[in-house]
Amino acid sequence: MKYINYLLKKKQKKEQITALTAYDHITARILEEAGIDIILVGDSYGMVKLGFDNTLPVTMEQMLTITKAVSTGVKDSIIIADMPFLSFHTNTSDAIKNAGLFLKETKAQGVKIESHKGNLDLIGRVIKADIPVMGHLGLVPQSIYRLGGYKTQGKTAEEALTLISMARQLEDLGCFAIILEGVASEVTQKIAEALRIPIIGIGSGPCDGQILVLDDLLGCNPDINLKHAKKYANLFQITKQAVVNYKKDIVSGKFPDKTHYDRMNKDELNKLQS
Ligand code: KIV
Repeated sequence: MKYINYLLKKKQKKEQITALTAYDHITARILEEAGIDIILVGDSYGMVKLGFDNTLPVTMEQMLTITKAVSTGVKDSIIIADMPFLSFHTNTSDAIKNAGLFLKETKAQGVKIESHKGNLDLIGRVIKADIPVMGHLGLVPQSIYRLGGYKTQGKTAEEALTLISMARQLEDLGCFAIILEGVASEVTQKIAEALRIPIIGIGSGPCDGQILVLDDLLGCNPDINLKHAKKYANLFQITKQAVVNYKKDIVSGKFPDKTHYDRMNKDELNKLQS
């Protein structure tokens, strides 16, 4: 089994860290078999699987359920659970309790907390409660209204300096890694060079590793074409074709055939008919 200190060793050996999202058992198994280091149970679940406009409606209950599902598919990879909106905002004890529930009830080794100037203290308290935290800076989706949309962060020198300073503070507080989302690549590079802990990017250019939402690389939703996500498959089309073929086979009588069901033995059939 891999533990989170494995990520630091990878950075020290200059080996790239691989990470993807999963929300269910079978996907987690696939990621593990493919040798992905971190499986993030992201609150992107709300947008990707439930069709919400943003991640804000996602609840602790939903996150615990899907993190448990992911846990059943994983023996070796590192599972990190995303703290959903309002699960850590109200006060420190709520934050520690909710973060702790992931460690208590699932195989998550740590939690990810979307970080901003106002919650650094709180992140420190969760870490002091002995719960490993992955920071998340830049285009943090739970702050979509404050940020005014999904725009790249750190494009001005002032924004860049703020991000660099926050990344340093997260390291000092004890975060074991930081996700940089939608950050100008020069800033990402500076942060990755300056910090000891691994920096994992999404739409932020090269650093110590990369993460994507799995559904984006699989092409599950034809309406989603993101600059940062390379498509490795067109699963929408493949799935649709399989369903169309299934429907055709039913209508034409090709499915089910004799291989798909059992029959009674002759004696029992005679008894039934007499
Ligand atoms: O929720 C999520 O999937 C995430 C990743 C995009 C980093 O936060």
